Amino acid sequence: MKFQILSLIALVGSTSAFAPFVRFERSQSALCAARKPFISGNWKLNPQTKEEAVQLASEIAASINPSSPDADVALFVPYVFIEAAMEAVGGKLQVGAEGVVPEMKGAFTGAVSASMLKSVGVQWTLAGHSERRVIFGETDEYINGQVLKLMEMGMSCMLCIGESESEFEQNLAGAVCAVQLKKGLAGVPKESMDRICIAYEPVWAIGTGKVATPEIAQAVHAECRRILAAMYDQETADSVRILYGGSVTPESVDVLMAQPDIDGALVGGASLDSSKFGRIINYESVLEKV
Ligand code: 13P
Repeated sequence: MKFQILSLIALVGSTSAFAPFVRFERSQSALCAARKPFISGNWKLNPQTKEEAVQLASEIAASINPSSPDADVALFVPYVFIEAAMEAVGGKLQVGAEGVVPEMKGAFTGAVSASMLKSVGVQWTLAGHSERRVIFGETDEYINGQVLKLMEMGMSCMLCIGESESEFEQNLAGAVCAVQLKKGLAGVPKESMDRICIAYEPVWAIGTGKVATPEIAQAVHAECRRILAAMYDQETADSVRILYGGSVTPESVDVLMAQPDIDGALVGGASLDSSKFGRIINYESVLEKV
């Protein structure tokens, strides 16, 4: 494990801890340059009404303007709001689902299938979020079933991975990500990997205000890319977008996005505030400024 860096850096709760800012050079790889940034919001069990959802989605869409970064933008929203949110954003961003079941039809009360989602125009779906793993008991095998079904349907999947606080403290971030990547992506062929994004979301950073320092996040993202290279090949690993999630805010996004292996953000709480999420979508490229 090459995580000596982890022992050097404490968990932080404010942007002041980002200083001094270690700037990494972006990879020379042309494929790296081809990784289009991806800013996404995960609304979870919010907001409480369709009216609020439509207003929030419209305000977020309005924050995308001609001078915004050239990034993909997506909102993962509760099923019942998907179509209304799609209408509200008018194609300015993608509206995805927060989950799907591996089964296609039958006696699965309360479930939503990939074909149902596809039929209303959904392309992107989350899988493997830690809240689904912990609260709803979704296993790596079940998550793999979701991923495979989405691939079979020609859809795209944002596979969330990440270690718990105690695993982090035991320096197991890389090992946990390796298991979750290998099990989550089992049976996914290299040819489908352009429809997979990875979201590294350390559980200790979700909803806690403890953003991983850019150095920690960068180190784990680079490790995830090494794992993907071992599972597939370097070219595939260099082309897969790996997003960071966990208490991303307008204050932390710029420096996170400046890390060479961080290709985007998956944002929870701040995606429920259109001005905050608008600022995250319009992140400033620290690299271009210098
Ligand atoms: P927060 O941004 O609220 O920490 O949530 C992150 C997350 O879980 C996104 O999927």
